[in-house]
Amino acid sequence: MADLTTTFAGITSPNPFWLASAPPTDKEYNVNRAFEAGWGGVVWKTLGEDPPIVNVNGPRYAALYAGDRKLIGFNNIELITDRPLSLNLEEIRRVKRNWPDRALVVSLMVPCEEPSWKRILTMVEDTGCDGVELNFGCPHGMSERGMGSAVGQVPEYIEMVTRWCKQYSKLPVIVKLTPNITDIRQPARAAKAGGADAVSLINTVNSIIGVDLDTLLINPATGKTGAHGGYCGPAVKPIAQCMVAEIARDPATAGLPISGIGGITTWRDAAEFLALGAGNVQVCTAAMTYGFRIVQDMIDGLSNYLDQKGMASVDALVGRAVPSVVDWQYLDLNHIDKAVIDQSLCIQCGRCHVVCEDTSHQAITALKDGKRHFEVIDAECVGCNLCVSVCPVPDCITLRALAPGEVDARTGKRVSGDYANWTTHPNNPSAATAEAT
Ligand SMILES: Cc1cc2nc3c(=O)[nH]c(=O)nc-3n(C[C@H](O)[C@H](O)[C@H](O)COP(=O)(O)O)c2cc1C
Ligand code: SF4
Ligand code: SF4
Repeated sequence: MADLTTTFAGITSPNPFWLASAPPTDKEYNVNRAFEAGWGGVVWKTLGEDPPIVNVNGPRYAALYAGDRKLIGFNNIELITDRPLSLNLEEIRRVKRNWPDRALVVSLMVPCEEPSWKRILTMVEDTGCDGVELNFGCPHGMSERGMGSAVGQVPEYIEMVTRWCKQYSKLPVIVKLTPNITDIRQPARAAKAGGADAVSLINTVNSIIGVDLDTLLINPATGKTGAHGGYCGPAVKPIAQCMVAEIARDPATAGLPISGIGGITTWRDAAEFLALGAGNVQVCTAAMTYGFRIVQDMIDGLSNYLDQKGMASVDALVGRAVPSVVDWQYLDLNHIDKAVIDQSLCIQCGRCHVVCEDTSHQAITALKDGKRHFEVIDAECVGCNLCVSVCPVPDCITLRALAPGEVDARTGKRVSGDYANWTTHPNNPSAATAEAT
């Protein structure tokens, strides 16, 4: 059976599933229950300086649902811990003593001043915890006070604070990044330059979840007003994965461990993050939606998957999909796909025809011999995947790659099988210039 033990930034845990810094890790009671359920580690809810912050006494959370009321996105306006620092430190010390095999990392956010960081690092290190995570990501409330994403959006600040933390603490330092930035590689490079042992991402995305059309107030509202919040949950997974992959394939941050966060709900989500270069994963919304026990399915699922793939450890999976991520210009323009409809699965709903007819390439029939019949017209199909995306029946429509030597009915050209990309394509003005010079 595959070994799920991971060592991330020098911190060992029995599995790669950590709870992200958030309400599930807010106090001893929760963390004890999380460890009993099997979580490999936690990042404690972000600590700040006393006096503690004050949260609103109204709705802090709101959700975006799919049609079946499945929660697909989650918004919050919560701040960092609202409990006294000494109470948190006391509980962290006790939890670490009681759970020596689990990872216990402490998230921190204090003003961007050297004495503040020095003071809190000394106190936190004294608890015996395994590492610190610098919260440079929170996009609401704290950012207006010059902390959280206000630091994470300025690479120079990231580098400076990370350097202080490495100077004043022997603990591994994980820098948690905000996605509310144009190029995620810049803060990751700054963290590395400051001496970070790892980065974690993503924190939440700036969001307004909706508007109540009766009251015309944004949702959630605290009385008569609301504020933008931070968005997370399944809907942010693609954004998070893109950012993780960007860092994983950036030569400037090569070798920098990445903790993948954002929408992870199942072992499959976790496996995808690992394949894209994350050394472990962190979970928040899924635990807040389904409770701590989901980790058992994650452990079983990942373990079975690794066994099936003949991978002996989590590390064997880490980064395996990264070489498949390239810039668009290197995609193979000679590769040709056609959609194929499995008539034995088709329920004749007609959705594929409607979308291809109205918005794609008019490549799916609606009628044959006067009867409803949905079939792909190869001479029109460009293999765009729209029909696959909207078909309600899994695997009813698939894409088939034309083999070398086959003729593409759309262009009349034979498939060459040779790789050719935009950089050398005759329509590319830069390629033509390069050839001429
Ligand atoms: C209610 C709530 C509170 C959060 N508080 C913190 C926090 O104190 N510190 C922090 O670094 N991230 C905080 N986060 C962000 C999460 O740690 C995580 O980065 C984000 O939710 C994305 O993961 P997910 O999609 O699994 O929820 C919070 C998220 C939620 C939903
Ligand atoms: S792959 Fe695109 S072009 Fe081809 S049939 Fe489907 S929607 Fe139409
Ligand atoms: S969308 Fe799928 S099920 Fe519906 S008609 Fe097209 S192929 Fe058949």
